[in-house]
Amino acid sequence: MSGGKKRLAILISGTGTNMTAIIEAAESGVLDAEAAVVISDNPNAKGLARAVKMGYETIACPYAKGLPREENEKAVIKAIKERDIDWIVLAGFMRVLSPSFVKEFRGRIVNIHPALLPAFPGARAIRDAIEAGAEVTGVTIHIVDELVDHGPIIAQREVPILPGDTEETLAMRIHETEHELYPRMLQELINEDV
Ligand code: GRF
Repeated sequence: MSGGKKRLAILISGTGTNMTAIIEAAESGVLDAEAAVVISDNPNAKGLARAVKMGYETIACPYAKGLPREENEKAVIKAIKERDIDWIVLAGFMRVLSPSFVKEFRGRIVNIHPALLPAFPGARAIRDAIEAGAEVTGVTIHIVDELVDHGPIIAQREVPILPGDTEETLAMRIHETEHELYPRMLQELINEDV
């Protein structure tokens, strides 16, 4: 682990708006860290192109169908280990990490989830909250353990579900909350980091 600015590996699968918020916070000095690498299982992730445009190193580690997770994760683990990474930041990374990956980097993997865990885990959390008729959902940031969307919670913020909300309108408000909360909580983790 490095002594100066904390080095982040940001793992994405999609648009990477949280990744962008984290990078912008790091660039403006609000977050005392640097995005050492952006890794995606999806070579076509919009966020990868965005990271390249912003001048960051990106690596695509496509997962081969039929291979065990541990095999698919080898390239990701190698990329992380080669770069002296302090924190692995999951930002819309749509793969469940294997227990051996979690063990390798225990306590150094952070995730953001668009619901108030333990409510609505899984990939459809925003839709599930609406369909369940919930009046409030939110955002959770947590340390990753072996279970899906599970592990010690660092922060949660409520986001009300308004009458007439669609998945899109609610997602927009959840994302706004995420973009403010994630960089701030990463800074808190870094402050406590020794
Ligand atoms: C976010 O809603 C995050 O909570 C979830 O995946 C989404 C990623 O969005 N894990 P983006 O790629 O950061 O725009």
